Amino acid sequence: MSTTLRKPRPGDRIEVSWLELDDRSGAQRVRGSAAHPSGVYDCSSRSGIPGARVLAEVVRRRGEHLDVRGLETIKHSEHAVPARCAHFGVCGGCGFQDTSYALQLEHKRGFVQRALQIHGLAAQAGCVQEVLGCDQPWRYRNKMDFSFSTKRWIETDEPQGAERGFALGLHPIGRFDRVLDVSDCSITFEEAGPILASARALARSLGLEAWDLERFEGLLRHLVVRKSAATGEILVDLVTSSESPERVDPFAMALVQSQPCITTLVQHSHDRPSQIAQAGPERVLFGRGFIEETLLGRKLYLSAQSFFQTNSCQAQVLGKVVREQARLPGAQLCWDLYCGAGAWALCLADCFEHIVGVDSLEAAISDAHANLSINALTNVRFECAGVEAFVFRPGAPLPDVVLVDPPRAGLAESVVQALLALAERGTKRLVYVSCNPRTAARDCALLAKGGWELVAAVPVDMFPHTQHLECVYTLVPSRSLGGMA
Ligand SMILES: C[S@@+](CC[C@H](N)C(=O)[O-])C[C@H]1O[C@@H](n2cnc3c(N)ncnc32)[C@H](O)[C@@H]1O
Repeated sequence: MSTTLRKPRPGDRIEVSWLELDDRSGAQRVRGSAAHPSGVYDCSSRSGIPGARVLAEVVRRRGEHLDVRGLETIKHSEHAVPARCAHFGVCGGCGFQDTSYALQLEHKRGFVQRALQIHGLAAQAGCVQEVLGCDQPWRYRNKMDFSFSTKRWIETDEPQGAERGFALGLHPIGRFDRVLDVSDCSITFEEAGPILASARALARSLGLEAWDLERFEGLLRHLVVRKSAATGEILVDLVTSSESPERVDPFAMALVQSQPCITTLVQHSHDRPSQIAQAGPERVLFGRGFIEETLLGRKLYLSAQSFFQTNSCQAQVLGKVVREQARLPGAQLCWDLYCGAGAWALCLADCFEHIVGVDSLEAAISDAHANLSINALTNVRFECAGVEAFVFRPGAPLPDVVLVDPPRAGLAESVVQALLALAERGTKRLVYVSCNPRTAARDCALLAKGGWELVAAVPVDMFPHTQHLECVYTLVPSRSLGGMA
């Protein structure tokens, strides 16, 4: 007689072996396995270190998968390191900081390889190189967006009745309705902590209220801080629900006086319900309204809204990889699609006779034009257009090399079709910069079906202690490798 064994239920306790860091759920998690009388279960949790064995509580079961919460450690992992940040475990920011950096890099390479395997490119997973890690995996962020809120996250060790109506910091894990008062963020530049403390104290003493996320009222919404690694200049962007100069200006001036490291302060104001920091009209309240950064010897002016890689040091590493992969002897024309403020075009200007950069955001193209003129480059042209329309423009000269750096969602299908047509017509190389291994793998697989072959993938860790990374994929026409795919 066969008996059906009961499967694990929420609240049950189970022993789990943690095996790998994981980005499959889109969040930073650890994945492992647990043996149970009813079978072997795939487990995941927000915290845990590969190599450890823990006693855990089942939170949820979906088929053969369990979401669990660790209760106690049975065997410690040799990859465990002390988390550096005081807010670790509560803040939703960087969940891998209790795992050695060397193991983070090894597993991040696995993210890129696994995504390729899932999309049928198992053979190409071998061309994924070791991740280029950060020499300084702390204090690497040159920009951080902190939020004000009327709903402060209360920590477990706080006394009863602690004031909860004002906060300035980051969201706790999975709680976008609350804000954790952050005293210092260990991945952001050093001056950010004192700036936050001053802003918090001044707002309270001047009686400025924080934005209420449910009632859509209150003045202070975000405080975005940005620092140049090249010059040390610091830009603060104060985002408010209305301009209110009579209330905002005294606050801004007092903040600049209390934190002389701030070289410029701007204000954006909007009262939309969405939590977008950079929106609405800009007022420059102090300084010149931008900071100056450098990338592989080129100058960039960064305003509050300009896009720039958030890790200045690794941006140089990524720039070098882009140069190495895109550079081709004798190549004349390069397209830099999704060019933003033109960072890659500036880095590649001496490798091609002509570069055309394309981005649909007017503000980005305006930054790109400013960057062209400060670097006195005459062989680069920027155009404000959607890539989907640009790639189908009739009569456009054939590019030798195409560089694409799309948003996380990856390439539109029509753009993939246009790139396939370029391989047919004779474009010699396609360099794909991506911050999302899954959509990049999907697009590489579509490109591989029609004439592009993936020959190298170089991951660069721009975001230590998080699940994020950038990767530069290099594709060449399959016929140049001796046969169509
Ligand atoms: C990941 S950023 C790349 C920025 C730039 N390559 C850099 O590293 O500085 C993606 C860019 O794509 C642009 N973008 C998004 N959708 C677009 C589209 N359909 N056509 C053109 N540009 C687009 C965004 O404005 C953004 O600047």
